[in-house]
Order: sequence, then C-alpha cells, then structure tokens
Amino acid sequence: MQYNDGLFDSIADDIANVGCSIQPNALPQLLLDQLARHVQTMPAADFKKAGIGRDSEHQLNTVIRSDEISWINNDNAAGAAWLEWVESLQVFLNRHLFLGLFSSESHFAHYAPGDYYQKHRDAFKGEANRVLSMVVYLNRDWQAEEGGELLIYKDETSQADIKVSPGFGTVVVFLSEGFPHEVLPATRDRFSIATWFRANNSRP
Ligand code: OGA
Ligand code: MN
Repeated sequence: MQYNDGLFDSIADDIANVGCSIQPNALPQLLLDQLARHVQTMPAADFKKAGIGRDSEHQLNTVIRSDEISWINNDNAAGAAWLEWVESLQVFLNRHLFLGLFSSESHFAHYAPGDYYQKHRDAFKGEANRVLSMVVYLNRDWQAEEGGELLIYKDETSQADIKVSPGFGTVVVFLSEGFPHEVLPATRDRFSIATWFRANNSRP
C-alpha cells in the first residue's frame, strides 16, 4: 500500500513526538467511499447499544455513552478493506516506532442526534491492553455548527486541548493511555469507526 506512506509517516512522527495525530481528510478516497456507503446501508439491527469493555467485562452504561456500535469483521467487502488498511498501518507503525502492536479490533459507531460519550480513557496504565486508539469519520459535508466534536485532553486536569470536527475522512490516532477524550452531541447522525491496537500481553 505504497500510497499510504505519506500519511503513515505523518502519523508515526506525531505519535513519536506528541502521542497524538489529527489528519483531516486523510483516508484514501476509495476506501472512504466504500466505508461510508456501507455504514449508511447497514440494517439498524446490526447496531447494538454500546457498553463499556468487551465480552465478560461488558456492561451497558448509558450514563457514560449513548451511541450504538457494530464490530467490524471480514464478512463484507467494506469491513475486509478496512481491516486490511488497519493491518498495513499496524505493520508500518511496528517498523517505525517499535510499538509491538500485535492485534486490533474495530467497530462502526452511530451517534444519533443528541448522543454522546463522556470523558474517558481507552486504556489504563498497568492493564497492558489497548496501546493505540484510532478514529475515522464517515460524515460527508459535516458543518462545524452540527457539533459532534471529539475533545482530546492532554491530561486529567487540563481544559480540552484539541477539538476535532468529525469531518469526512479525518483520521485521529492517539496513545490509548495518554489522552482522556469525549464526544459531544451533534445535531445530525454521526458515523465513525473506532479501532484499537493491542500489544501481545502474553509477552514477558
Ligand atoms: C471511543 C471513542 C470517539 C469518536 O469509541 O472510545 O472515543 O469520536 N470514540 O467517535
Ligand atoms: Mn474512546
């Protein structure tokens, strides 16, 4: 995937220097169109109320978040194309940053108007689970006044340091332990993909 090298380079540089990378309008156009078309045509029943944690840790917590999610797999062309792109980024980052990324998981998220995700972290120190978080937005012609921003904080006490509008093809990557973040409500449907890269926690 030669055509990604410029983007992957910028992401790697930002992660190495500041731990966080915002890349507006960055996802390759064909992949972006394919994913946007797919998410718009998915049956509503494929989306389930999001919980906090997966599987056994899974608990519904609509106080913290009110969106719906659908885990991505290889069963359809768009999902397979996404997972292939994620894999190529994982390989690139492992080569350039030695993060030891070993696996990933991805879901679509649908925030209906008014939905939100309160300030949280995607991973906690010492749990050795999620290393890197990535979010991509699938919303054509998003207007600033429609809200739905991702707010990223540099630490627990700071003001929101970075505000990202969920515009079409914007890619956000950050160290999972490093950055509390939250999703503000929007006035229209907001679609995204969230991906987490994990290190192999069976390593010594
Ligand atoms: C998450 C998350 C951010 C977004 O799913 O953990 O923080 O902008 N998503 O959708
Ligand atoms: Mn998150």
